[in-house]
Amino acid sequence: MLTNINPTKTRAWKLLKKDYQRLKKVHMKDLFARDPQRFSKYSLVFEDMLVDFSKNRIDDKALQHLLQLTDECLLKDAIERYFSGDRINVTENRAVLHTALRNRSNLPVFLDGQDVMPAVRAVLAKMEKFSNQVISGEWKGYTDKPITDIVNIGIGGSDLGPVMVTEALKPYKKPHITTHFVSNVDGTHIAETLKKINPETTLFLIASKTFTTQETMANAYTAREWFLKSAKEEDIKKHFVAISTNKKEVEKFGIDPENMFEFWDWVGGRYSLWSAIGLSIACTIGFENFTELLEGAYAMDQHFRKTPFRENMPVILALLGIWYNNFFGAETHAILPYDQYLHRFPAYFQQGDMESNGKSVDRDGKPVTYQTGPIIWGEPGTNGQHAFYQLIHQGTKLIPCDFIAPAQTHNPIGNHHELLLSNFFAQTEALMNGKTKEEVIEELQRAGKSPEEIELLLPYKVFEGNKPTNSILVKKITPRTLGSLIAMYEHKIFVQGVIWNIFSYDQWGVELGKQLANKILPELKDNTLVSTHDQSTNGLMNAYKKFRHL
Ligand code: F6P
Repeated sequence: MLTNINPTKTRAWKLLKKDYQRLKKVHMKDLFARDPQRFSKYSLVFEDMLVDFSKNRIDDKALQHLLQLTDECLLKDAIERYFSGDRINVTENRAVLHTALRNRSNLPVFLDGQDVMPAVRAVLAKMEKFSNQVISGEWKGYTDKPITDIVNIGIGGSDLGPVMVTEALKPYKKPHITTHFVSNVDGTHIAETLKKINPETTLFLIASKTFTTQETMANAYTAREWFLKSAKEEDIKKHFVAISTNKKEVEKFGIDPENMFEFWDWVGGRYSLWSAIGLSIACTIGFENFTELLEGAYAMDQHFRKTPFRENMPVILALLGIWYNNFFGAETHAILPYDQYLHRFPAYFQQGDMESNGKSVDRDGKPVTYQTGPIIWGEPGTNGQHAFYQLIHQGTKLIPCDFIAPAQTHNPIGNHHELLLSNFFAQTEALMNGKTKEEVIEELQRAGKSPEEIELLLPYKVFEGNKPTNSILVKKITPRTLGSLIAMYEHKIFVQGVIWNIFSYDQWGVELGKQLANKILPELKDNTLVSTHDQSTNGLMNAYKKFRHL
């Protein structure tokens, strides 16, 4: 178990409050002016990745106090417990061992005295064999044709990870396999997918840790029904595969246990892409590339576990997040990839972060008296620049941002990549420097504006700047760098959860809606007026019953 420490009761927290008072009016431009070494001091390198955190409203003293916070909150000890199978997910009485899934060493990982690695390796070997058979065409459908389409049916962690990774690694895709993802219970999602595929050459991967999730089961049964319009029951084993921890439910659905890829309760849904949940990834980009993804994550795991905190990427990013969240009162954090292939990366970490650290009760069972997880959001650049950056630049809210970009593109067409990267650099520069009154006046004078026009426009054209950003530059988005990047964010979430003294690996908050939906479902069957809920819910349900027949 982790030691429960209220972060606000630490000495470091009190010092950080003072640091905030000292720094809240300081402009980053002045911090740079004071220290010509700031960039090199405030940037970190790991393999082909550079994290520049110099454009933050931080100085050595505040950073020192943030590091002191990690000491006082026993982060080092927590990391060891995390990696070594301690049941840190207390409310579910589970270990948190997604790092074992990508343990590329020969070292064992013990859970309750038993090494989990033989089982991990066995499932990986099964995934390798299966994905090779699918890709090579050896795996045949019921009419003896090779597979051309894969449909992953899953939601949340059983969808977002595979979607994000297969999109991010599209350049590595096997050209003759098309992968589709169905998650939403809205029938449109499956209906539109079924229009594109042929039952003879389609493989359905039913991905669900519990195998009871309403959306996934509804979509899986619809897919099965659709399939059985053309094929027979005995053909199911060639076209349906289950990825789950729940063997009983898988059998109940009618999937051959031979076609089940197992994982374990110590893998959280939102941390499961490294497990058999990644089967759609392996079938799309090949097992060799899936292995590289694991290798990249493993390398980051080693960095996180062994590097002193001052040089530790996930730790530094986590501390900066705490700095803005708890001292500057920032409510949100934007993830802005300058890479079209990473377009689902923000959505992926929206679940990763918000489902993990969206908690308001501490590890002692008491309501927290401080802020925990931020709202995570974002879209790829440059699209976001023409949509919501206005508010980041000139709105009333402080929004710390992570900018992520590859130095090399998979699509070197004309000067597109330079255009993209020039925007990446320009935005973080503009967010930091802003534009002073003097600069605006000079610009408007040069544009030939009259003094009256200048006076009118001036207040709107001034940018305060001083908006914090982290710049994450990678050489290229490869399976390895992507693995490292994902693991870096996973560990950042862990560090923040440890310091906020919350449980990051349960998600009870999503239960209530599920329970109520199950209660409401039978009430929608007929046209009787509903009166068992609150006034608004009754009113809405009754209006729906009226509208659906109009
Ligand atoms: O939304 C809640 C949740 O439990 C997520 O944590 C999980 O990733 C998702 O539902 C899907 O769950 P399962 O893999 O069991 O279908």
